[in-house]
Amino acid sequence: MPYIIGIDLGTTNSCVAVFKDGQPVVIPNKGGYKTTPSIVAISENDKRLVGYVAKRQAITNAEHTVYAAKRLIGRRYNSEIVEKIKNMVPYKLVEGSNGDVRVELRGRVYSIPEISSMILQEMKLIAESMLNEPVNKAVITVPAYFNDAQRQATRDAGTIAGLEVEAIINEPTAAALAYGYGKNINRRIAVYDIGGGTFDISIVDVAGENFKVISTAGDSFLGGEDIDNRIMDYCISTFMQETGIDLRQDAVAMQRLKEAAEKAKCDLSVLTSTEISIPFITTDSKNNPLHLKITLTRDFLEEISKSIIEKTFTICDTALKSANISKSTIKDVLLVGGQSRMPMVARMVKEYFGIDPSKRIHPDEAVAIGAAIKGHMLQSHQSHAKLVDVTSHSLGIMVAGGYFSPLIEKNTAIPTKKTRIFTTVKDNQEQVKIIVLQGESKRCEENELLGEFILNGLRKGPRGSVEIEVTFEINSDGIVMVSAKDIKTGLKQEIIVTATSGLTEEEIQRMAEENRDYLLETKVSEDFEKYRYESRKMIEEVDSILNRLKDTMGKDEFFRELLGKVDRSRENLEKAIKEKNLESLIEELEVFKRIYKMCKSLSSKG
Ligand SMILES: Nc1ncnc2c1ncn2[C@@H]1O[C@H](COP(=O)(O)OP(=O)(O)OP(=O)(O)O)[C@@H](O)[C@H]1O
Ligand SMILES: [Mg+2]
Repeated sequence: MPYIIGIDLGTTNSCVAVFKDGQPVVIPNKGGYKTTPSIVAISENDKRLVGYVAKRQAITNAEHTVYAAKRLIGRRYNSEIVEKIKNMVPYKLVEGSNGDVRVELRGRVYSIPEISSMILQEMKLIAESMLNEPVNKAVITVPAYFNDAQRQATRDAGTIAGLEVEAIINEPTAAALAYGYGKNINRRIAVYDIGGGTFDISIVDVAGENFKVISTAGDSFLGGEDIDNRIMDYCISTFMQETGIDLRQDAVAMQRLKEAAEKAKCDLSVLTSTEISIPFITTDSKNNPLHLKITLTRDFLEEISKSIIEKTFTICDTALKSANISKSTIKDVLLVGGQSRMPMVARMVKEYFGIDPSKRIHPDEAVAIGAAIKGHMLQSHQSHAKLVDVTSHSLGIMVAGGYFSPLIEKNTAIPTKKTRIFTTVKDNQEQVKIIVLQGESKRCEENELLGEFILNGLRKGPRGSVEIEVTFEINSDGIVMVSAKDIKTGLKQEIIVTATSGLTEEEIQRMAEENRDYLLETKVSEDFEKYRYESRKMIEEVDSILNRLKDTMGKDEFFRELLGKVDRSRENLEKAIKEKNLESLIEELEVFKRIYKMCKSLSSKG
């Protein structure tokens, strides 16, 4: 049976797992790492770079390197959040034809699902290279707090990457599966997930093979990056005081600072003090180089990040309150997400819940593992496990006076279908406009618009006499369908809500089509691997010949010259390998082969 892989598409890092030989396993990338940076870049020669290769060149190519794309997915260009992100990232954001936000890299505009698809495709390749077969099916995770547009856009990203998305599941729910699947556990747990960009809390009742989410809440703009930003702000203002120079004006300096800030933060999870040191960060008015050197202690870091972590508990309060349960009913707390490694987080979580966090799951891998388990559940007839998730937002329509009338309350188990009858507000009203919103406010303008449509040609009648049945349906991926029907005449209109806000079907098709060309790219990288392997072998062989000859010929001038040639040529080879430049790798390998021949003939003489 073909594999269904599980992908945790993270803001900062992504992870892929699969259910194989009776258990879920995380699949490491070529470098042996179990997570891959969610970073995409377009290089100077228009090459797509994804993951570690993209991360490594981010400093020198900041404007064309996209990180944290997940914060943008499914968002509109004119939204407040996008406005805020615009000032934080070095890459350029532009408005798409549908009003969605897109990025411009080296003169080409990419939709966010397209950027995410490149990451998904990378994860697919990682899986394929381990499984040794093509992979076409996946379960992808999203934050529980993702709205309909964000879920739909993530699904689109999967399609563009050439994956059939078998399910979209919530990250904390996946973590709960990783924790309890096959372990016969019976208790109520909380999943506290703090990653790079999002915070999620879910309360899940685990009863053997049944996993029932009873409440979820979150903030898709709260996570480790906020802490990095606080560190950066501190460094920028300290540097400003010392030198009068505003580093914000310098994209390269900002990128270096961002990396250094994050590294310092992670170091402080084990150390109590560290130094942020960035030599030659900029120059003064006389062109003298300036260096940044700032000491950061764990205490100070905790002081500046405390309010960020405190915010998470306000959200936990909301989750408990909306489920109408008390903290004391929770018997285990799972810490998920890289940011939960900060000692203060574990301490504050313990204080809040009054219990030590569970050590059963791996904070970086649990979500992908859970997605792989879900993939297995979909496929296997032996598995009787049942997973019930909930909606994270209330959904409804606008009624007279600009009020929001929810049809589906948040934390309702999905899939679900709800119907309610509305009536006309005017005599002989011929049409109604159904405005679909999501949110928790009574006032529509404070909620998020999901879409709208018109039901025309209503039967004429006095105000209040024409009844319209509105139905909301949410499938198990959390995607919403709305329909309206004139009850007497049976006249009906319906929409899949996000059809208006994201990419069009044609666009997705076109992108998937274009993406096929990138399969060539994969082939090229296979070639690259071949040449790299050959280079390594050749270097090894040359080294061993020279080693043998060293004792007898060490003083010979020709030999010494040859050593110099070998060094230079090896350096060029290493450079081509490091830059993943196939053309120059082939060229340099040719040069190195000539040197190899020289060594060989020397060795046969010697
Ligand atoms: N040892 C550590 N100490 C503190 N923070 C860490 C540590 N390791 C990683 N982090 C932080 O964790 C965050 C990344 O976490 P993770 O990889 O779980 O996020 P993600 O899954 O990409 O994001 P999200 O779940 O928000 O979409 C980053 O902000 C990173 O700096
Ligand atoms: Mg995550």
